Amino acid sequence: MSYEEIVNEKFNKIKDKKDIIILGIESSCDETAAAVVKGGREVLSNVVASQIDIHRRFGGVVPEIASRNHITAIDNVVNNALKDANMTFKDIDCIAVTYGAGLLGALLVGVSYAKALSFAKKIPLIAVSHIKGHISANYVASKELEPPYMCLLCSGGHTAIIKTDDYDKVELIGSTLDDAVGEAFDKVARVLGLHYPGGPEVQKLAESGKPTIKFNKPFKGEKTYNFSYSGLKTGVINYIHNNEEKGVEINKADVACSFQETAVSMLVDNVVRAAVDYNMKKIVVAGGVGANKRLREMLKEKASKKGIEVYYPPLNLCTDNAVMIASAGYFMIKSGCSLAPIDLDASSTVKIV
Ligand code: KG4
Ligand code: ZN
Repeated sequence: MSYEEIVNEKFNKIKDKKDIIILGIESSCDETAAAVVKGGREVLSNVVASQIDIHRRFGGVVPEIASRNHITAIDNVVNNALKDANMTFKDIDCIAVTYGAGLLGALLVGVSYAKALSFAKKIPLIAVSHIKGHISANYVASKELEPPYMCLLCSGGHTAIIKTDDYDKVELIGSTLDDAVGEAFDKVARVLGLHYPGGPEVQKLAESGKPTIKFNKPFKGEKTYNFSYSGLKTGVINYIHNNEEKGVEINKADVACSFQETAVSMLVDNVVRAAVDYNMKKIVVAGGVGANKRLREMLKEKASKKGIEVYYPPLNLCTDNAVMIASAGYFMIKSGCSLAPIDLDASSTVKIV
């Protein structure tokens, strides 16, 4: 039997199983990750090899270095994920790999490894969008969570509002017209002389500051669910440069706090308004910026006033991991997805929905 015939036959057998066991593989940016997840929600193992310390000295992720480090790490990461789950490849029903969005060279490492594994061990393979993964982290964190809900996607690469009526019935109702919110956090961190990744550093510095500086918000008076962060980023850069030129010393903590307050309130205002407009009783937060303390605080406060419940993954599932990829793979299978072809390619961009 050919590879295709074997994996198709296996896939048909596991589709209706409740407790499908999926090996997730993720390598889209600077984390090499593998995880084993049962039934889409139960974590059997979760291994993440972070390259943050390597990239920190360059002030951001260097794509070529990321790819090289994924190559050295991936075999151990996958084997450790199996070991931690007390399993061998024979126990794995399906492999789910991130094919996009992200750094092409980095993605290619995970995709090539997963394809080779699928071919050698004859395990069905599915291709998962990194964005779907971030959203799915919530199904692992909150066992009872089910659609419908309004999703706020806020990561380093995307900022969007996704109306989610069912697992496979989603609609993009707002997105950023320029920078992603995480990108703005990282750029502001850089001009403030903070380390990469900028988000957690800005948050830390903001704790000792006050929101004394007024930065403009976009779309004044317009009823839109879209976002724009390039104006805010430029506002912060101009504020710093203007004061530098005048020889006035700036209070960096106040700048961080004022920026964070503005950036976060834009996310909160839009998603709460969207939830109210569409009569959704749940808001689900996805992506790295979802780890932000002030976002969590402000969203909880504003949403609870409208009787809306807010869901977040724990911090370790907010940022990149493979649990979320395995979980998204499970819900894709349940929604009738197809197997990935053996010539599956990586893609630097994917459609949000
Ligand atoms: O979701 P993620 O890990 O990667 C992408 O898929 O893009 O998000 C990374 C982004 C970075 O921009 C990082 O600075 C930001 O999430 N981030 C934070 C925090 N933790 C991570 N931003 C604000 N506050 C945080 N605590
Ligand atoms: Zn991510």
